[in-house]
Amino acid sequence: MKLFGTTIINEKGHLEIGGCCTMELVKKYQTPLYVMDEAHIRNQCRLFKESFISDKVDTEVIYASKAFLNLAMCKLINEEGLSLDVVSGGELYTALKAHFPVERIYFHGNNKTEEELHMAVKHDIGTIVLDNQYEAHLLSEICEKHHKHINVLLRVNPGIEAHTHEYISTTKNDSKFGESIFSEATFELIKWIDDHEFLNFRGLHSHIGSQIFERESFYRQLGIMMTYIKTVKQNVNVCIDELNLGGGFGIYYVDGDTPFDINIFLKELLEKVENDASGLNIPIPKILIEPGRAIVANSGTTLYKVGSTKKTYGGKHYVFVDGSMADHIRTALYDADYEAVLANRMNDEIEENYTVTGKCCESGDILVKTAKLPKPNPKDILAVFSTGAYHYSMSSNYNLMTRPAVIFVKDGSSRVVVKRETYTDLLRNNIE
Ligand code: LLP
Repeated sequence: MKLFGTTIINEKGHLEIGGCCTMELVKKYQTPLYVMDEAHIRNQCRLFKESFISDKVDTEVIYASKAFLNLAMCKLINEEGLSLDVVSGGELYTALKAHFPVERIYFHGNNKTEEELHMAVKHDIGTIVLDNQYEAHLLSEICEKHHKHINVLLRVNPGIEAHTHEYISTTKNDSKFGESIFSEATFELIKWIDDHEFLNFRGLHSHIGSQIFERESFYRQLGIMMTYIKTVKQNVNVCIDELNLGGGFGIYYVDGDTPFDINIFLKELLEKVENDASGLNIPIPKILIEPGRAIVANSGTTLYKVGSTKKTYGGKHYVFVDGSMADHIRTALYDADYEAVLANRMNDEIEENYTVTGKCCESGDILVKTAKLPKPNPKDILAVFSTGAYHYSMSSNYNLMTRPAVIFVKDGSSRVVVKRETYTDLLRNNIE
């Protein structure tokens, strides 16, 4: 078990995060509860910003907001000087409502609607990451109509297979994202965009997947993309000023996960950019990265209240909690592993392995497949670690479960950044 950021075991044997005892948090905010360690999020932002610097290479760190987004998070990301990647009208709306500087917003997505593109043009969003030819034409028509210029990157697929779960791997040749670097039509599209009066072609984007542990996959991606930059110049005489390499940096969930050192990795990546550029005899492009999970995952802990335990006839030992797959979908969806503890009994001896399950009417409603716990009692508080990324953002109202509150904790104080949903919220769009 690993404790991240400001998480400690206090003198009472209770789990404490951001100087706040989780027992007090549960009393104040009830369960289930997403607790975010604000200092740790900020440290991760700084780690990326400070490691991704070089004398020769211009760089930018963009937070992939799909991992975890709300108004407070936009504010934090802005304060830390990162840019923001949004992928839908809803994420863009959140960023605009938070007054996130529009010039530092990157708008992604493989099928942005006309309305979403209008919204982006109207608000002078910094950069649109185009996915395909149709979208390029759609955007150009909107820009022409409004006489507005906009920066664009084109997402391309370099055909790399990184080792990760199939659902979160994005650049096999059959991926839905981007245009293939192996297709002749992609050169023509790049040329078309570059020639367009209202589209400022800035360069290329690629993202090879998520939760990747091999640095080599990213180096391979860089090598392929740098070579492609040269090929584009040779084939259609277009200069690529910016290369966005996406995110996907793996993090620790359970024993056996071996994330690489971000500081060393980013330094090596930038050295490789310099070497590749000089080897290929091309100008050094600006390099952009888009971490999501690596910024927020380890900062999140979900707190639940234990109900019953049940030993099945088949021998499986369940512990029931008051949340479910509706607030924790990654185990059901990706077969993901997590570590869990009893937050009120951190010093008690481990009794055996339990399967943590929730309240949903579904056998696949598993939160933690194997939790090594002391014998749980009703009303114990069960904490699941590393739930900061793709938990709140992927939560649902399945079985009409209400979404938990999200709180930020720091230096002994706590604040709600997203209120707990109520039954009234569940019915707010119903019409009798
Ligand atoms: N940039 C692009 C274009 C992306 O598609 C993604 C993630 C990221 C950046 C950030 O990747 P990260 O650094 O967070 O790995 N729901 C899945 C993850 C889906 C990732 C989708 N794209 C999960 O819970 O594992």
